[in-house]
Amino acid sequence: MAGPQLIDHLSVHPRLRVREALQIERVACRFHMTYGGTVVKRRMPKAGDLAPLIRFRKPRFDRVQRHLDDALTIEDLRRLAKRRTPKAAFDYTDGAAEDEVSIHRARQAFRDIEFHPSILRDVSNVRTDWQVLGGPVALPFAIAPTGFTRLMHTDGELAGARVAAEAGIPFSLSTLGTASIEDVAAAARQGRRWFQLYMWRDRERSMALVKRAADAGFDTLLATVDVPVAGARLRDVRNGMSIPPALTLRTALNAAVRPRWWVDLLTTEPLSFASLDRWSGTVGEYLDAMFDPTLTFDDLAWIKAHWPGKLVVKGIQTLDDAIAVVNLGVDGIVLSNHGGRQLDRAPVPFHLLPVVARELGAHTEILVDTGVMSGADVVAAVALGARSVLIGRAYLYGLMAGGEAGVRRAVDILAAQLVRTMKLLGVRSLEELSPTHVTQLRRLIPVVSDEPTGTGSN
Ligand code: FNR
Repeated sequence: MAGPQLIDHLSVHPRLRVREALQIERVACRFHMTYGGTVVKRRMPKAGDLAPLIRFRKPRFDRVQRHLDDALTIEDLRRLAKRRTPKAAFDYTDGAAEDEVSIHRARQAFRDIEFHPSILRDVSNVRTDWQVLGGPVALPFAIAPTGFTRLMHTDGELAGARVAAEAGIPFSLSTLGTASIEDVAAAARQGRRWFQLYMWRDRERSMALVKRAADAGFDTLLATVDVPVAGARLRDVRNGMSIPPALTLRTALNAAVRPRWWVDLLTTEPLSFASLDRWSGTVGEYLDAMFDPTLTFDDLAWIKAHWPGKLVVKGIQTLDDAIAVVNLGVDGIVLSNHGGRQLDRAPVPFHLLPVVARELGAHTEILVDTGVMSGADVVAAVALGARSVLIGRAYLYGLMAGGEAGVRRAVDILAAQLVRTMKLLGVRSLEELSPTHVTQLRRLIPVVSDEPTGTGSN
């Protein structure tokens, strides 16, 4: 039915409102080739007219690679990861402690910034390399240590180590890694490798690991200090998540729609800890059985005496603690709340950054993590005083989305976002980034604010 007729017969569509009726009239007018008094002359299209418009893509037969190529952001990779990974493994990675407030706030803090660009700079060439902890890096971010990584995808740590080496960024292996210290070293001979230490109740075994890492050429030790006990990861408890994953009726049903993950798991090396024993309880039970809650600053001094390379303390959440560990003579600190997986409603590490950088920037190297989902976040952190940023989930989403190729895609996305942001800010090197480029907009303001909180120094 043509438009004018419809308007004449409003009873046909009793709910038709006046604005919609007018729209129909316009369409109808176009249909009659008159619009605003102009007569549109039409002709048959020729083949030659179409040729310049046609942009058929080469068929891409590798479905995984096709999806990875189509992912433009880390959030896109997260969505892909969720489709490809069984719920328990995805939730173990994606989830955080208690109500997951810490990770939510940390991500929000990066969104709540304002960049201040400079104009008319020649940004045809941008340098993203500098020195971190005594060695060169091509980009100011590194892969964070993560446990049980082969659970997310059987390519696991070796994929991370290989991609990091290719990209010129450090790779961190966790004490709870699922590839051995020596295998990671062999996979990434030319790359920089950092080892993350959890101090176990059994000190001798912890230090045996440290010695193996030093012998295998790991140049930095990250001593994680925010895990006196395991955080309450409620998704894991609800999912009955165990290591190795147990085949319950629920997991079997979930596996039916993600067969590839299970085929990979069952046809590759069995999952186990690279450095420690097998375990058949939940992750939380494992951590509580192994972690040493008696750890103090004296132990840190002891670790320092036993490690020949750079020592960095990971999990600093207050300025006072930052000062205390720097006074012990460590080489660097990571402002981190463990990706929100330990204490919930913990300080946002990115908020802490400006005040810690102001007080300690001249005395130590400051790294930051938790909530980084984009290369622009990395730029903001560097501008406010970070030497480097650790990326945890951003890399793991890539891994779950497509194994090693997915990790490569995650690093490529972050690197491209970082370079583009630097160019748009009008800076040509990391050294040119400064606090004048970023304002942290306040959303959460302390009720009593006479203490330095680090929230929004600019
Ligand atoms: C971690 N993290 C971590 N840290 C650590 O020191 N040792 C470890 O074994 C682990 N394991 C681990 C597993 C998983 C699945 C995640 C997501 C994280 C914390 C990690 O090193 C880093 O601090 C956070 O991941 C940073 O936050 P984003 O980047 O994930 O937001």
